[in-house]
Amino acid sequence: MARVLVTGSDGQLGMCLREIQSQYPDISFHFTNKNKLDITKKRELNSFFSSNKINWCINCAAYTNVDKAEEEPDSASLINKKGAEILAEVTNTQNVTLIHVSTDFVFDGKQKNPYTENDRTNPINIYGKTKLDGEKSIVKLNQNHFIIRTSWLYSKYKSNFLKTMLKLATEKNKINVVSDQFGSPTNAIDLAHVILKLILVDSKSYGIYHFSNEGVVSWFEFAKTIFKEKQIDIEVNPIKTENYITLAKRPLYSVLDKTKIKETFNLSIPFWKDSLKETISKL
Ligand SMILES: NC(=O)c1ccc[n+]([C@@H]2O[C@H](COP(=O)([O-])OP(=O)(O)OC[C@H]3O[C@@H](n4cnc5c(N)ncnc54)[C@H](OP(=O)(O)O)[C@@H]3O)[C@@H](O)[C@H]2O)c1
Repeated sequence: MARVLVTGSDGQLGMCLREIQSQYPDISFHFTNKNKLDITKKRELNSFFSSNKINWCINCAAYTNVDKAEEEPDSASLINKKGAEILAEVTNTQNVTLIHVSTDFVFDGKQKNPYTENDRTNPINIYGKTKLDGEKSIVKLNQNHFIIRTSWLYSKYKSNFLKTMLKLATEKNKINVVSDQFGSPTNAIDLAHVILKLILVDSKSYGIYHFSNEGVVSWFEFAKTIFKEKQIDIEVNPIKTENYITLAKRPLYSVLDKTKIKETFNLSIPFWKDSLKETISKL
């Protein structure tokens, strides 16, 4: 039986893994949060792995506040770079396969076609840079790794674009949403299933993979669809990135090419609108 540690499991992806765990009776789960197991503490990690005979680790722990990272680069780096490095070192010595989640923000967004795993990385903000540093440490320190880059993650848990839009709709009757940044939303439940599928098939096809839902959309269209599905009457106006000032720069285009993950694991990935509808129906 696979014995799986999930770090940072109070975050949205961690919560989604908790939600679907009962569908995977052949996996024994150990969910830990920052208080129980801090990924920047090597000794704690070593002792946890030794005493629980873990053979897979899903790292959901991360510093994910993209704008705040610009003001707190050291904190972002401690978790996204140093934490990933320590986790890679410890999992390597403990013979544990590491599944790590990364981001579309490792790219600069200048490309006009979907990014493959082999395309050049060039992060344009601190968050993306620290996530890329984390990826590099993992590749160097634990050969038995899966790094899954994802984008525009949402769920009913924690904070994300879907929840922000629904909250704004309770406070305002008119909002502006950026219409010139394009990407693919990802239902965190779909990502959680893919991660567990890798474990179930005991995959040894290590490496970097891209995963999001199918389809390409702007934040503006994403917002409009959320309100349509939720039957919320609100005026949504498109605005350009240059008129929406944020601390961190964001890539204008960060669509991920998913051919590799689909072909390697024989996956068929839900279209973003279908997956969004399903999440909204459960809210
Ligand atoms: N959210 C997105 O749109 C998005 C897009 C692309 C990729 N990703 C990637 O997807 C992954 C999952 O994201 P998410 O949205 O689930 O993030 P999240 O909701 O912010 O969850 C991250 C969790 O990690 C915890 N954590 C922070 N420092 C830790 C430490 N030192 N040790 C253990 N746990 C720690 C956090 O706790 P506190 O909250 O208490 O700090 C939080 O519970 C991340 O790797 C992220 O970079 C996310």
